[in-house]
Amino acid sequence: MTDKYAVIGNPIGHTKSPLIHATFARQTGQDIDYLAIEGEIGHFAENVETFRRDGGRGMNVTAPFKLEAFDYATDLSEQARLAGAANALKFEGGRIFAQNFDGVGLTRDIVSNLAFTMRGRRVLLLGAGGAARGAMLPFLNERPAKLVLVNRTVSKAQALFEQFKPYAEGDFSWCSYSELAEAAEPFDLVVNATSASLRGELPPVPVGVFASGGVAYELAYGKGLTPFLKRAQDAGAAQLADGVGMLVEQAAESFEWWRGVRPETATMIRTLTVPLR
Ligand code: ATR
Repeated sequence: MTDKYAVIGNPIGHTKSPLIHATFARQTGQDIDYLAIEGEIGHFAENVETFRRDGGRGMNVTAPFKLEAFDYATDLSEQARLAGAANALKFEGGRIFAQNFDGVGLTRDIVSNLAFTMRGRRVLLLGAGGAARGAMLPFLNERPAKLVLVNRTVSKAQALFEQFKPYAEGDFSWCSYSELAEAAEPFDLVVNATSASLRGELPPVPVGVFASGGVAYELAYGKGLTPFLKRAQDAGAAQLADGVGMLVEQAAESFEWWRGVRPETATMIRTLTVPLR
């Protein structure tokens, strides 16, 4: 029998998830159906229950429902608990298991696909919202020599720092953008986990943070050379990446969690890549 899965979000028209999962299913010989569902604001739980009653086995969850998915779950993974949000659900009898694969997918893309070893390197993370929170544990698990959090609202950077301090082995700190400019210190990897690029804005990141030979990673995908990536390029960063690899890798994590087989991701990443220009 064909097993049913779906992605739920609002809006959902732009989603690449059905294409990604249908491709994974063909590639691995799994018999699944994967839909896109436009969830109704304020009715997330009812929408999910309807899908479960229709035989749904699992869901990916995207904006704006990741916090509601977290609340709806009966069983949270450690990563979901620490991220305070869920992007994947699995239904088994009356239990609802929740995971958050965003940060794991991001980290896998950086470490495996871009072949950037985080261990022992200097990493700067811009932003302290949901996307940054999801990246914290997977990043710290890679044991960078130094991890600095910077956010426009500094109290949020500090709160994130306090939450994750127990998991840090290397040099871990937070600061404001003006302190970052004063320090004029280069980083091997700079990750833009702010939502600035969604509105074509540039987070106030000083040019001096991009080490020559370093990597600049933009979490938004399909937006070409965003103001952040342009600044990194102008500053001499050697490698620029957007979040297409993260998108495909988090999908692969969900697929493996549901189906027990790991799909190949490189072909899908190539298919979805929009040139950075
Ligand atoms: P997401 O789930 O995408 O992380 P979010 O939780 O709303 O979204 O967080 C957005 C993040 O982007 C925040 O860290 C925000 O900074 P503030 O906490 O100061 O609001 C950051 N952000 C958004 N626009 C920005 C801009 N133009 N410059 C710098 N940071 C920006």
